[in-house]
Amino acid sequence: MNNLYSAPAKVILFGEHAAVYGKPAIAVPVSSLRASAFIQPEGRGKGFQIEAIDLAQILPVTVDSDLMDNALIYTAQQVLKTLNASPPDATIKLTSQIPMASGLGSGAGVSTALARAVAGAVGKHLDDDTLNRLIFDIEKLYHGTPSGIDNTVIVYERPVYFIKGMPLQPLTIGTPFTLVIGDTGEAGITRVAVGDVRKLYDANPAQISPILDEIGDISMRAKIIIETGNPDDLAPLMTRNHELLRRLTVSADSLEKLIDIAIRAGALGAKLSGGGRGGNMIALVHRQQAPIVQEALLRAGAKNAFITTVR
Ligand code: MEV
Repeated sequence: MNNLYSAPAKVILFGEHAAVYGKPAIAVPVSSLRASAFIQPEGRGKGFQIEAIDLAQILPVTVDSDLMDNALIYTAQQVLKTLNASPPDATIKLTSQIPMASGLGSGAGVSTALARAVAGAVGKHLDDDTLNRLIFDIEKLYHGTPSGIDNTVIVYERPVYFIKGMPLQPLTIGTPFTLVIGDTGEAGITRVAVGDVRKLYDANPAQISPILDEIGDISMRAKIIIETGNPDDLAPLMTRNHELLRRLTVSADSLEKLIDIAIRAGALGAKLSGGGRGGNMIALVHRQQAPIVQEALLRAGAKNAFITTVR
């Protein structure tokens, strides 16, 4: 039996928030940052529990009570229900390198790793399409009205050109490119940011619709560049996408500061990534400039900064 299951973090390159309104968006997995779930078999009759190591919590799982106030227990219950399986005698140990509330998909990453491990603990396999639907349902329950982009890029672990409600469209990376991801260290609650953009939209659709349309156009242009063009040409699209996100009120002083620092340190373009209001920003860099930008972000107070190559 395989005992270790995992799922990656993600970054959204283009189109966050507009994705909720059916506009295209682009996201890539960050495979070096992962949530992991390890199955420890227990003796007969010992029951089923989740040990959330980072939260120092042990959560017993039963099938009869639908504990919807706990996303981890609920995820495990839904997997057992989907697979028509009884709770195993096992402890699933969960831990994650993906910072919470940072726009890197920690919720979907942890649920995905856990769901895979629960299936493994009962000796079954959850295919990616079923898993993706299941994680999307869990995201909807706990995170408001998500588009489905986070669960899709994380479950399939491949770059995606995403349009809400449409079949998966994988994205081919023509020429690999490098990003520096900078963490403001400030929590950004995606559900709140998405809700605030909804209020803004409902209050003034004539003003907000063109912003969402333009973000969608940027994603379409970025797709062509990523697949067949020179990645440096993504830089002005990132800058413009960020300006539009600022107009949707989802930037923050901490994000503006790191974006500014990254550009001054030689990044080609930069923007917030994910729900915003804190969390992470991404900067497009030439490979040799990456450590310089990383260092500048850390010196300016970023809680973390790391380099990733999109390929
Ligand atoms: C969150 O990673 C991306 C948002 O567009 C919300 C969503 O699409 O579900 C802000």
